[in-house]
Amino acid sequence: MKLLISGSSGLFGSALVRRAISSGYTCQSLDRSSVALSLDATARDALDAMLVGVDHLVHAAANTNVERCEAEPQTCYRDNVLLTELLAAAARRCGVPMTVISSTGVYGSHLQRPYAEFDEAHPQTHHHKSKLLAERAVLSAAEANLVLRTGWLFGGEASAPKNFVARRILEARSTPDGFISSNQQQRGCPTHVEDLADRLLALLALNAQGVFNAVNEGTASRFEYVREIVERAGLNVQVRPVAAGSFNRVAPVSDNETAINWRANELGLPPMRSWQSALTNYLAGDEMKALIV
Ligand SMILES: NC(=O)c1ccc[n+]([C@@H]2O[C@H](COP(=O)([O-])OP(=O)(O)OC[C@H]3O[C@@H](n4cnc5c(N)ncnc54)[C@H](OP(=O)(O)O)[C@@H]3O)[C@@H](O)[C@H]2O)c1
Repeated sequence: MKLLISGSSGLFGSALVRRAISSGYTCQSLDRSSVALSLDATARDALDAMLVGVDHLVHAAANTNVERCEAEPQTCYRDNVLLTELLAAAARRCGVPMTVISSTGVYGSHLQRPYAEFDEAHPQTHHHKSKLLAERAVLSAAEANLVLRTGWLFGGEASAPKNFVARRILEARSTPDGFISSNQQQRGCPTHVEDLADRLLALLALNAQGVFNAVNEGTASRFEYVREIVERAGLNVQVRPVAAGSFNRVAPVSDNETAINWRANELGLPPMRSWQSALTNYLAGDEMKALIV
């Protein structure tokens, strides 16, 4: 089975390539230079040519900078909506089913409990509004298409600028004060990229379609998450809880990005492991051990 993967250089896309290849898939990358945001026939034919022989298109590319999306909404909607619409149209023309990776942030802040797929989405930031529009473009393009809404992703190479776990370890190691601060208001589901990749591959094998939440089990505030990272890394640094307002964020991100994998659980898929278990496993890997020593 052959996957065409956009965003394969990113945190999730690179994990998906690793997991898919080790499960016997063939993977091909669809990088940004291969997609022209244009309706002209040459661009359309070039995209269609990329889909020849492909069994499934995984669209993991996105403008993931929530703050910049808020400051530059047109860039955000161009990157996240127009690109998705072009890919969804090409996949439909070529009869290739497609998955888009979305976010539990699309649910917004209207409930105080973890969101399930039957809850309405009321995104509050431009980034999450663009992700919801991208979902709709994919779902309306073909019945067979799939949306995975995921949580706070971690994993991958320690050197990746977006590696939240590595950044917090480096922050804790370099603090001159013996403490670091973290947001105690915002809650979410830390999720290992490899677990998300495995969940996607399992859903593809079952020809699943529609919207699925896909997060590691359990929830945490940013503060609880960072405290867990620092403690499990064995660092003698205190993590102090602070209010969301301390971080001067532009984007009005929801305080509740928590979710449960309700649909997958109801349909009999095995639960995804807890985020604590996934984090422990990740910190024990060679990449992170080198950072902790
Ligand atoms: N990270 C999270 O915590 C999180 C949470 C919820 C949902 N998600 C979703 O999960 C997916 C993967 O996220 P990630 O964290 O792996 O992202 P990432 O590490 O920020 O990587 C983004 C990827 O998208 C590509 N990309 C960005 N803008 C593009 C454009 N305009 N055209 C083509 N390619 C473009 C990048 O390519 P270049 O290398 O060329 O820049 C890179 O490969 C995204 O859909 C994201 O919205 C992520």
